[in-house]
Formats: sequence, C-alpha cells, structure tokens
Amino acid sequence: MSVEKIIEEEKQGQSLITEQVNNNHKKLFIESYGCQMNMNDSEIVASILAKEGYNTTQNLEEADLVLVNTCSIRDKAEQTIRKRLQKYNRVKLKKNRKMKIGVLGCMAERLKTKFLEEEKMLDLVVGPDAYRDLPNLVKEIESGRDAVNVLLSKEETYADVSPVRLNSNGVSAFVSITRGCDNMCTFCVVPFTRGRERSRDPQSIIKEIRDLKDQNFKEVTLLGQNVDSYVWYGGGLKKDFDKASEIAKATAVDFASLLDMCATAFPKIRFRSFTSNPQDMSLDVLHVTAKHDNICKYIHLPIQSGSTKVLNRMNRQHTREEYIELIDNIRKIIPECAISQDIITGFCGETEEDHKETLSLMEYVKYDYGYMFAYSERPGTLAAKKFEDDIPLEVKKRRLAEVIALQREHSHVRTKAFVGKTMEVLIEGTSKKSDQHWKGRNTQNTVAIFPKTGNETLGDFVMVKINDCTSATLLGTVVNRE
Ligand code: 5AD
Ligand code: SF4
Repeated sequence: MSVEKIIEEEKQGQSLITEQVNNNHKKLFIESYGCQMNMNDSEIVASILAKEGYNTTQNLEEADLVLVNTCSIRDKAEQTIRKRLQKYNRVKLKKNRKMKIGVLGCMAERLKTKFLEEEKMLDLVVGPDAYRDLPNLVKEIESGRDAVNVLLSKEETYADVSPVRLNSNGVSAFVSITRGCDNMCTFCVVPFTRGRERSRDPQSIIKEIRDLKDQNFKEVTLLGQNVDSYVWYGGGLKKDFDKASEIAKATAVDFASLLDMCATAFPKIRFRSFTSNPQDMSLDVLHVTAKHDNICKYIHLPIQSGSTKVLNRMNRQHTREEYIELIDNIRKIIPECAISQDIITGFCGETEEDHKETLSLMEYVKYDYGYMFAYSERPGTLAAKKFEDDIPLEVKKRRLAEVIALQREHSHVRTKAFVGKTMEVLIEGTSKKSDQHWKGRNTQNTVAIFPKTGNETLGDFVMVKINDCTSATLLGTVVNRE
C-alpha cells in the first residue's frame, strides 16, 4: 500500500471517529495513575470505547462508566487507587446507581479476579493487553454481569488504534513504541503485569506521528518501558529476535534507526523518548541524538543504585563502572545533554557503604533531576521470593531524604547554569501561577516561565533569554531569533 493511501485511509478513519464522537450519548469517566504508558493506554481505551457510544466526561457523577487505569509499581500507588475506588463507590451509592465501575492496567493484571472479591462494587477488570476486548466486556457489564479479561499477549501493540488525546494541550503527545518488559529487575512488578516485550511496526508509528503533525502537535515523546531495546523484525517478541530469519535480522529496525527515521521525516516536530535503559543504550542512539536538532538533548537514565553489588542483586545487567562509562560517552557525544535518574533506597541488603556509593555516583553525574523512591516490596517479584526486605522503614526513609537533598542541590546547580543563556523553548501553555506568563520547556526538559508579549502563541518555538531561576524553573523573556 502506498504512503498516500495509508494517509488517506487514516484521515477517513479519523473523520469516522469524529462523527462517532458527535453521535455518542454514553459517558465515560477515565482516570490514569502511574507512568506515561498508562496515560497513553487510557487514550487508546477512550478511542476503542468511542466506537461503542462513549464520550469522555470530566464529571464523575454523570458517568455511565468509570474506569481507573491503575499502577502497581509501589504499595503506595495501590493504596491511592483503593481510596479512589471508595470515592467512586460513594458517588455510585449516593448519586448514580446505574454507574458501572472498572479497573484497567497493572493492578487489574496483578490481582485478576481477586480484585472483584476484594472490591465488591467493581464490575470490570481488564489487563493492559485486553483493551480490544472492551466492547464485549462492556456489553457483559451492561447486562448486569461482572467481566474480566487479563490475558497477556505476544503481539498486541494497539498499532492501528488512533488514540483519543485526553487532557491534551494540543502541543505535546505520547506515542507508544514498545509494550512489556523482559528485563526482570528483581524489585519490579512490571514484567508480570505488562508481559513480554514486543515492538510496534515503525510504519504505524510514523502514521500516528503524521496524524499528530496534521493536528498541529509540536512534540512527540516515544514511549516504552525500555525504548532502547526497540526492535522491529516483522513482529513477534523481543526474546525471539535471535530465532528470526537472516533476512529479518538484516532488515530489522532498531531504536537508533527508528529515531533517525522519525527525526528525518518530521523536521518540525521535536522528539523525546522515555525510558532508556543503561545496558541497552547504544552509541548509535547517542550519535543520532547529537545529529538531529529536533531530538531533545535529554536522557532519562535510571541507575537505581550506585553499588555494583546492589545492582547485581537487582539484576540490572550492568555495573557502576559500565554506567559511568555510558555517562562519559553521553557527555562526550552530546555535551549539552541533560540526564535524569531513578533511584531506589533501602533495597534488600543495602548497607550504609552501598548507600554512600549511590551518593558518590550522584556527585559524579550531577543529574539535572530525578525520581527517587524508598524500596517497596511487591508481591510475586523475584526480590520478594529471594531476598528479605530487611532495611527498616526509618533507614529507607533517611537514605531517601539524603538522596533527595543531594539531588535538590544538583538540580539547582544545573538550573543556575542556564542563567544568562538564550535558548529555544516550546510554548506548552499558560503558567499556572499567572495568566500573563507562558510556560514551556527547553531541549533539556527544564521548565521556563516568561511574560507573554502578544506576538507569540501556544505551540510556538520561541527564543527565551534566561535572566533568573528558582531551584528547578527558569525565568526569562522572549527575544528575537538571530
Ligand atoms: N520499589 C520502589 N521503587 C520501584 N521502582 C520500581 N519498582 C519499585 C519498587 N518495588 C521504581 C524504579 C523504576 C521506577 C519506574 O520506579 O526506580 O525505575
Ligand atoms: Fe521494571 Fe526493570 Fe523493566 Fe524498568 S526495566 S519496567 S524497572 S523490570
């Protein structure tokens, strides 16, 4: 099929969806917790249900169907969702007895039918690979029966579903490129809730981005649990790549070539990706990032711990030294690159010495920012089976506080280094604090706030001179492009 034909069919599909949305009368309230994958999955779900007569609403009380896309990554995330379910139950009992309530995502996959036993008012439980079955499942619950589908898939990537952009600023959007994770980090529940890793057809990725470009979007974040291990060899699981034919291997598309393809095909779109994994990140990816102005100079590179001993126990597949070598390569190949981290404190067996190694690694990298967590044992994970969760909560929390404090210092140093410079910023909205100011981000992902002049608008790339900063935000003024 020619590219023109694909685009034409896609446009027809899009106008069909618009027509459906206009004729719909049932109301869907959908909420997402956890990672950006979940946010994007909810957009896929909204698209699937638009064809079943459901339009989204922000008003919980009027909803016919309430769906919560859940996260299992830490115990606290699950507790938050339990509280939300109680809130939905209260609204159902007091305001809208006909309301149906369903759970999607990782908690649905983890708890399966047990969820229905634990939450008596729940009608529907659907895992991340079963959203295509929602039309059938919704019919089941509309006729008064509970419905469950938590089957995981080897192929599902929702490649042909055009997501309905939810809570969108019309400027930045997410596009999923892989699903699942094969890494089996011992602390992590994701491989169990999102299944084996598979990549999406690059043609369908390009199609989705073209559609976003036609709708005037300016920034696309390519999403995956581990974007660097993207590989398209005609379909199938990542783990079966080695068994593919020689031709399939020779013509396979890896993450570096996908990025290159996207950045070349859409020079006006700015690209980000999320999340990178140290052991899979190739030098090719760094060179492609350096080559294209429209690939953001920002890499989120989780480390989890600065101690090789702990990394080994976490099954992270790289040492402290290998991580440092990668950081050095990033600094060499993309000197202006911002780097952020994920760190876990108090993993099983972590000594004070190990913790100090984390702090010293942070000193070495001086991350621009980070996402830091105390270890939370997750049922069913390898760590839960193999190791004792032996670090007392106060110690986990004290170490976490130390890591956060150090990160705050480094973030401030990094932010201050932008003061006095002029940089391109994409306008993503009006500042929350003042409607006289815009907010946007530079290529490094740092937020900038600056006064509106009346000459620029949402979605513009503008040059901003940075005059000052707070610990994590740049303050500037728009200047003319030279
Ligand atoms: N406890 C604490 N943090 C966790 N993460 C993943 N699993 C756990 C857990 N059991 C963190 C990791 C990961 C991020 C998405 O969440 O740092 O990179
Ligand atoms: Fe979890 Fe590790 Fe996969 Fe990230 S790479 S989703 S931490 S198993």
